[in-house]
Order: sequence, then C-alpha cells, then structure tokens
Amino acid sequence: MSEHPNQHPKEGQQPKSKMREMSRRQFLNYTLGGTGGFLIGIPLVWNLRFAIDPLLQAKSQSNYVKVAEVSEITSTPTRFKFQVEQVDGWYYSKPEMEAWIAKAPDGTIYALSPKCKHLGCVVSWAPEGQAPNEFYCPCHGARYTIDGKELAVASAPLDEYEVMLQDGFVYLGPIKANTRV
Ligand code: FES
Repeated sequence: MSEHPNQHPKEGQQPKSKMREMSRRQFLNYTLGGTGGFLIGIPLVWNLRFAIDPLLQAKSQSNYVKVAEVSEITSTPTRFKFQVEQVDGWYYSKPEMEAWIAKAPDGTIYALSPKCKHLGCVVSWAPEGQAPNEFYCPCHGARYTIDGKELAVASAPLDEYEVMLQDGFVYLGPIKANTRV
C-alpha cells in the first residue's frame, strides 16, 4: 500500500522531503567546500614554497670565504678584511667583516674576531703606546693575549673564526667561542 504524502512518518523516521533537503545541502557543502579548499590550498602551498626557498638556498651555500694566502700569515696577528654573503628571507646583503689571523708556534693558523667582549668596540694588535704584544681595545682599555684570552676589563676571550686551509688559501667560516684559551 502506497503512503499518502500528508501521512505522518512513523516514529524515528525523517520526513522524505527533509531527507532530500539534507542530502542536497550536504552535497552543496561537500562540493563548494572541496572546490574552495582546492582553490585556497594551491596558492598557499605555492607561496609557502617561495617563502621557504631562500632558507633552503642559504643552507646549501658554502659558509666559508677565501680571505688570505697561507704564505701571508706570520706569528704576528695581521688584520684581514673580507665580505660575507647574507640572505635573510629575500634580503641580500654583503657586510664587511674583519679578522686577526696569526700562526701559532705549533704552525696552526687561527683567526680571532676583533669585536671586544666588553661592549663590542674593535680591538687592535699592539697599538703604539699601548699594551705591546697584546690586543687592546681603545674604548675602555680591555686587553687580551695573542690567543685572545681576556686580561683586563672584558670578562670573556675574543671569539674565533672557523678556519679551513685549501690550495694555499685561508678560508674563514662561522664565528665560534674561543677554543685556544
Ligand atoms: S668595548 Fe672594549 S673595553 Fe669596552
């Protein structure tokens, strides 16, 4: 026997028209939601790739810079200037750096950062009229040994650069804590 359209549904049963409406709404939700997600997702992933790309490139670049010839290095610390490439997101810069490079009695070539560990001024090696055979900071008079050990004013040794020797050249890498003192 067929059901009359106005007949009340049995208990626990949804009216047929309601069921039809629900499934139409669900269908629209799925369709629009899926298409919207797709349209938003593609540019998002694409932009994310470009945002991350410089970081990936920075990691793949060499961190060492050719600074001097090994034959130029003596037991007296000598100041060398060099430039490093820096990529910060999309910002590219080439700041100038300095290092005091010397050869230790055992033949090891090492490089110290000239940045004073007191307040960041630049130290010099044995400036005239000041501490002979020591690094000296003109700002507040900090002094350091030839290996960068603090003697006065500063409370820490001068930092050191990573050093790599290759084909007769000295390459400097990232700055690290002093390993010589
Ligand atoms: S910054 Fe070098 S002594 Fe103060």
